[in-house]
Amino acid sequence: MEYLSAQNTSFSYEETEDEEKLEVLHGVTLGIRKGEFVALLGHNGSGKSTLAKHFNAMLLPSGGKVYVDGLDTMDENLKLEIRRRVGLVLQNPDNQLVASVVEEDVAFGPENLGIAPPEIRRRVDEALQAVEMYDYRLNAPYKLSGGQKQRIAIAGIIAMEPDCIVLDEPTAMLDPRGRDEVLSTIHRLNREKGITVVLITHYMDEAVGADRVVVMDRGEILTQGTPREVFSQVQLLKDHQLDVPQATELVWRLRQEGFDLPECALSAEECVTALQKLLTRDF
Ligand SMILES: Nc1ncnc2c1ncn2[C@@H]1O[C@H](COP(=O)(O)OP(=O)(O)OP(=O)(O)O)[C@@H](O)[C@H]1O
Ligand SMILES: [Mg+2]
Repeated sequence: MEYLSAQNTSFSYEETEDEEKLEVLHGVTLGIRKGEFVALLGHNGSGKSTLAKHFNAMLLPSGGKVYVDGLDTMDENLKLEIRRRVGLVLQNPDNQLVASVVEEDVAFGPENLGIAPPEIRRRVDEALQAVEMYDYRLNAPYKLSGGQKQRIAIAGIIAMEPDCIVLDEPTAMLDPRGRDEVLSTIHRLNREKGITVVLITHYMDEAVGADRVVVMDRGEILTQGTPREVFSQVQLLKDHQLDVPQATELVWRLRQEGFDLPECALSAEECVTALQKLLTRDF
């Protein structure tokens, strides 16, 4: 069964009285299986964040339905249960850290769930270990690097023991090293704890490691599939002002110039292998 399910979901933000309502999701249907790692891509304003907020009942559909583990997000009585199952991590870690000591920050979520102190202690320690920040538990969050802060924000979500985490551009504010730290943390949580992951990103290279890539465009799903299926459609993505990974772009351009190369390279390694093959071939 699908863990997250948007069924013909539409959504409009309320506008001021004299303005018309602006529909930003137009009947999106998308299912995400338990344990799956999905990258959600799309141009600015395509509706990624709006859809993400539907997955933990922060926003409710104006049309259609959204289910989390079979629970209808429209049911007010299920809201807390849904928020416990799906954690949302936002772009800027500074807006998510609230306490003056790292471990207090991580404890904040489980405290709000009314969990007993010894259990909170266990969860906080485990969550900090999961993001490899246990040694920093007594530090002040403001002294940490961007990547470290974002890992603490993720630990705060992990400590609530969700089935699923939805991350809305968690690496946007980070330098390459911070991005790597956060990305490998997310992959490990998916692999080792079976946490379902929805990762919204503008970095195409981050999408390459996902099980599935979903591309949004103007409130609809443009295309989806494995990273290779999606990034093979270079022209389609370009037509919608979207990038592809650098390696994919290079191989695609050379193919356009008539070089005999594979249809799609996803990584620098694949690209190098393809070029080596081409260069060492007998003519
Ligand atoms: N609070 C709001 N009130 C009114 N309109 C909004 C609000 N938030 C977003 N929108 C509009 O809804 C549309 C979709 O926005 P959304 O933030 O979901 O896109 P996005 O794909 O996450 O974009 P980005 O890549 O810039 O984060 C945009 O046209 C945006 O201007
Ligand atoms: Mg957004």
